[in-house]
Amino acid sequence: MITTTGLTKVYRSGDREVTALDGVDLHVREGEVYGVIGQSGAGKSTLIRCVNLLERPTSGTVTVAGQELTALAGKGQRANAALRAARSHIGMVFQHFNLLSSRTVQDNIELPLEILKVDRRERSRKALELLDLVGLADKAKAYPAQLSGGQKQRVGIARALAGDPKVLLSDEATSALDPETTRSILQLLRDLNRQLGLTVLLITHEMDVVKTICDSAALMKNGRVVEQGTVAELLATPGSELARELFPVGGEPSGPDRTVVDVTFHGEAATRPVISELSRTYNVDISILGAAMDTVGGKQIGRMRIELPGRFEDNVVPIGFLREQGLQVDVAGDPAAPATAAPAGALVKEGAK
Ligand SMILES: Nc1ncnc2c1ncn2[C@@H]1O[C@H](COP(=O)(O)OP(=O)(O)OP(=O)(O)O)[C@@H](O)[C@H]1O
Ligand SMILES: [Mg+2]
Repeated sequence: MITTTGLTKVYRSGDREVTALDGVDLHVREGEVYGVIGQSGAGKSTLIRCVNLLERPTSGTVTVAGQELTALAGKGQRANAALRAARSHIGMVFQHFNLLSSRTVQDNIELPLEILKVDRRERSRKALELLDLVGLADKAKAYPAQLSGGQKQRVGIARALAGDPKVLLSDEATSALDPETTRSILQLLRDLNRQLGLTVLLITHEMDVVKTICDSAALMKNGRVVEQGTVAELLATPGSELARELFPVGGEPSGPDRTVVDVTFHGEAATRPVISELSRTYNVDISILGAAMDTVGGKQIGRMRIELPGRFEDNVVPIGFLREQGLQVDVAGDPAAPATAAPAGALVKEGAK
């Protein structure tokens, strides 16, 4: 639904150059909620602004709903009209809501429809329908100053939906809100994603946001996407930083000559008593160092860090047993692992040697 290839953005001011995006290849599937996470300055906002061409990329392509926006940009009046039309199918939600304080809630939502020259009756019908959808049917005549932050963001979302977009872009839509309001806004985005089949690309610096509603995620650093995939794919990627942050399982080995193993449970395997089976079958004492269970993208996923007595060589058979059960097993601190893929304490799938 959204694809970028080699997307690059270099800002020039005087003789200074800042490379905000450095060859980003993003692939967002139709109907999914896709989260981009990264630290301040990583290039997240630049990426989302390049996706709807609010910002002109220095190079690379952006395709949304089968239309290459970068091919339309800046090639005369007709191309500009085509770009405007394409952009009207992309809704955008902002961190600070960007509502006009002199307009009522309803008039704020009607604004993009005025620009599209939709007639007054249709605008009004649409705005009221959208207000109902975001749970603010009674606030049509209120002014933004009379609303809470969460309500303002609901108006921001309703406005973003006015042009019947296929894609909704959200830049830190919840970071000005308290945790409970954040949850309700995320739930609204999830509901809209499901009800309307809306594809959502959201930017955040909070892992919780990714955990709550994203089907897929990408991690950005210094203008690059360093990891991306569905949550399940990420969890199955040895040494994935996103997986580790989504499922932090702490716990240090209790002594030398111990093997520390992270076991990831998905779906059916999550319900079987594999650890007690392992203990009984091989007569090993297993210590649990840490564990996390959660629902990610509506699926039950768990991770457990366990410790087995003896070195890795002594535990090849029990580890093999766990893998035969369909579990993902990552052995900690594998000495043969390349340093870049496995910083201290990182996990490396033993098959990746
Ligand atoms: N208009 C601009 N002119 C010059 N440099 C810019 C401009 N916009 C962004 N940058 C620079 O590009 C880099 C990426 O900025 P960007 O706003 O995309 O980061 P971000 O990941 O959204 O950060 P945050 O989490 O703080 O919002 C930063 O180094 C920033 O200073
Ligand atoms: Mg930003």
